[in-house]
Amino acid sequence: MDLSTSYLGLDLKHPLVPSACNPLSRDLDAFRRAEDAGASAVVMYSLFEEEIRMDADKFDFFLDFGSESFAEAVDYFPQLRSHAAPVERYFEVLEEASAALDIPVIGSLNCVSVDGWAEYAPRFEQAGAAALELNIYSLVGDAQRSGPMVERLYTEIVEETRRRVKIPLSVKLHPFFSSLPNIAAALQRKGADGLVLFNRFYQPDLDIETLEVDNRLVLSTSRDMLLPLRWIAILYGRVPVDLALTTGVHSHVDVLKGILAGASVTMMAAELLQHGLGRIEEIRLEMERWLEEHEYESLKQMQGAMSQQHVLDPSAFERAHHMSILRGYSPDPTGVAPIRQPDQGA
Ligand SMILES: Cc1cc2nc3c(=O)[nH]c(=O)nc-3n(C[C@H](O)[C@H](O)[C@H](O)COP(=O)(O)O)c2cc1C
Repeated sequence: MDLSTSYLGLDLKHPLVPSACNPLSRDLDAFRRAEDAGASAVVMYSLFEEEIRMDADKFDFFLDFGSESFAEAVDYFPQLRSHAAPVERYFEVLEEASAALDIPVIGSLNCVSVDGWAEYAPRFEQAGAAALELNIYSLVGDAQRSGPMVERLYTEIVEETRRRVKIPLSVKLHPFFSSLPNIAAALQRKGADGLVLFNRFYQPDLDIETLEVDNRLVLSTSRDMLLPLRWIAILYGRVPVDLALTTGVHSHVDVLKGILAGASVTMMAAELLQHGLGRIEEIRLEMERWLEEHEYESLKQMQGAMSQQHVLDPSAFERAHHMSILRGYSPDPTGVAPIRQPDQGA
């Protein structure tokens, strides 16, 4: 079965890619384990601008500190090196993994300022990354910042980064835009080759007894993939970018749904953290079996088959569905509609 796919100009043997996530790409061993487990590419965890700045501040601090002492200032150098390490360590691992692995290694950067993106993106290219994921994670809490201001920042980030690197760029977005197709097209025009949908906003809960904020990271379930699934189906064929689906991919059914909607790859974190990297091979085999049973010759044959590419007016289409879903509601005893699995039939 031909499961090959193309993502950001990279030829991948299948669409199963470990998502940016520290435990899955912490060091060269972690990368090797992912490759041995059959991953078709790996996205490295994100380097955050705050970490870079923290390193730089520490660097300045130790330099100043040293300059005010005299002869023994030399003693501070080993300390300085160990404190300045995390960012350098990131690029060291990226460089090692890019050179050692046969599969593409995609870097991931998360900055705050436009200057930060522009300054650090070239280091990913120098370290040998096959592509760079721009993980733009900003939650606007300032009532003075309008939607267009926020969108301008996104497009500037991509434009400035594109100016400085030649490797393919993808943008990891959140879903909260007034017009996702419009910002997607704008990002593509500024140089994005792909979109990764969606970044998960971690939503802290409140404990009403202790009055504490519960910041625990709750891992996704398959139900969480419905939002990116819908948007990928809408964007596929309308904006000329490759689409990666992240959030809620846990089984071969989820992967196949993503491909039917139009994704080129599906990225996984929660499933691999919970059940191990062995899931990559299991899911691949299950996909193969399913495709054979359903007489497909390749995965590409099904890509986008359930997208809204041929729907003339997706807004009207969505509205009609919205209405019919609301009108057609009948109570389910559990209150939760099941996620359809293939063995449950149509
Ligand atoms: C422990 C952990 C660490 C993560 N670190 C990053 C990161 O560094 N950069 C990033 O873009 N996303 C990060 N993510 C988000 C994942 O890449 C992924 O988009 C998200 O978990 C949804 O996918 P899933 O449903 O397969 O978990 C992290 C997720 C987890 C669970």
